[in-house]
Amino acid sequence: MVRKQIGRNYKLIMKKLMEINMTGLDVVLLPEELKEKDLSECLIVVIDVLRASSTITTALASGADRVIPVYNPKEAQERVKHYPNEKALLCGERNGEKLTDFDLGNSPLEYKDSRIKGKTILLTTTNGIRTIDMVKKAKSIIIGCFLNSRAVAEYCISYPGKVLIVCAGDRGNISLEDTVCAGMIVDELYLNNINRNCEIEHYNDDLLIASFLCREFGNNLSGMLEKSVWGKHLIAMGLKEDINFCAQKDIYKLIPVIRGDSIVNNELPGQ
Ligand code: MLT
Repeated sequence: MVRKQIGRNYKLIMKKLMEINMTGLDVVLLPEELKEKDLSECLIVVIDVLRASSTITTALASGADRVIPVYNPKEAQERVKHYPNEKALLCGERNGEKLTDFDLGNSPLEYKDSRIKGKTILLTTTNGIRTIDMVKKAKSIIIGCFLNSRAVAEYCISYPGKVLIVCAGDRGNISLEDTVCAGMIVDELYLNNINRNCEIEHYNDDLLIASFLCREFGNNLSGMLEKSVWGKHLIAMGLKEDINFCAQKDIYKLIPVIRGDSIVNNELPGQ
């Protein structure tokens, strides 16, 4: 029964994607799946719903100049010294908790504050930033989450090459929330009615799993986040409000895009 339904979704998605501009779409549920894959022509969408992608998107929506992804906390502490005090904020988490002596943690709600405006945010997180680091050889990299999933899908449609959605997962384990978000972007693309011919190369099972799980959980995002392993961890830390915030769909129309060593706001035209 489930197999039949996946098969039907697959055919519908294939048919629809053949009408849009991209020359390929794939999903990987873990960055480890990329191995030696050549990313030099790809647009990569990095997804870490809880919470790095949601935090980066919110910081830029609040007017941050840029978010600089930094792999480890020590490096972030060194790099922040190169900025005048009032210009940069040292931010990040390990195990979900704000790091000692850092200005902010990784709760998107902290980034709704007016003091974010005009700031450079040096951000280090466990899985999200690690995933950005793992795809750095890609032609183009953007950041997606539920807060901006429709804008991300629109951006993907206008990209003339291959699009690869990369879920951050949690230290090598697939995460439900990133998978559902990947499926939501796939489904947004499928639902979009743009007619252009293109050659579809390859779809993997990850894409179908993501699309299927989105249909299963997409109508109750906060319920889904509460069920997920990392969601339960955040709730146990008293961060249920973060879950509710990250579960909001399309409250932002901006696309966080990597330019050089920074992530900046690439608002869609006409927004
Ligand atoms: C991460 O990058 O691993 C996460 O964003 C962790 C978190 O929820 O802070």
